[in-house]
Amino acid sequence: MKPALVKKFFPNLLSWKELEYLINIRPLMNIERVAVLDENRNRIDEIEWDNSPWTIDTDCYPPHLLREYIEKYVCIFHDMSRCSFNINKVAETLEKKFNKSVDAHVYVCRNVNAVHPFGVHADKVDNLIVQCEGKTNFKVWDPDGKLVVDCAMIPGDAVFIPASFPHEVTTLTPRMSVSFPLHTDHPTTFEDRTWIKL
Ligand SMILES: [Fe+2]
Repeated sequence: MKPALVKKFFPNLLSWKELEYLINIRPLMNIERVAVLDENRNRIDEIEWDNSPWTIDTDCYPPHLLREYIEKYVCIFHDMSRCSFNINKVAETLEKKFNKSVDAHVYVCRNVNAVHPFGVHADKVDNLIVQCEGKTNFKVWDPDGKLVVDCAMIPGDAVFIPASFPHEVTTLTPRMSVSFPLHTDHPTTFEDRTWIKL
């Protein structure tokens, strides 16, 4: 597969306000789900804090700490493919099209001076990345080193990055994007995409 840039792929996929709602659900903000990365790609793992006697999952970030981290570091929220109706729908569509299991990772960088932890790198899986808030520059090179995508993405734009294509992400403004990685295997069991409506 080849890299592709799709302008206006999905406007309004996820807004700051929707993310605000999600990150305030403390039981969702488990240290396994939320990776807070410094510029060397190390996880900021302060996992000692006091919990109220009512707390069931004590491995969830206290909101005051997460608020501090999210304004300072790059934060990645994993296993988020069911975090909204639209994201669940995009994941389901990709699963049907490629017959591969799909997750959604929410990338947030609100500090434009934070050095991006990944630099130029390549991933083992194909990825569809949708810009949701702010502006991000994406560069993608083919395996021979030829620059094939160089674009300042704005909300709604998407870029498809095939596995092993080097790419670099530069934050231009406070920004949020959702990445849909396609698993390498063709599984027999997929995420349950049932959306409960009341
Ligand atoms: Fe990547």
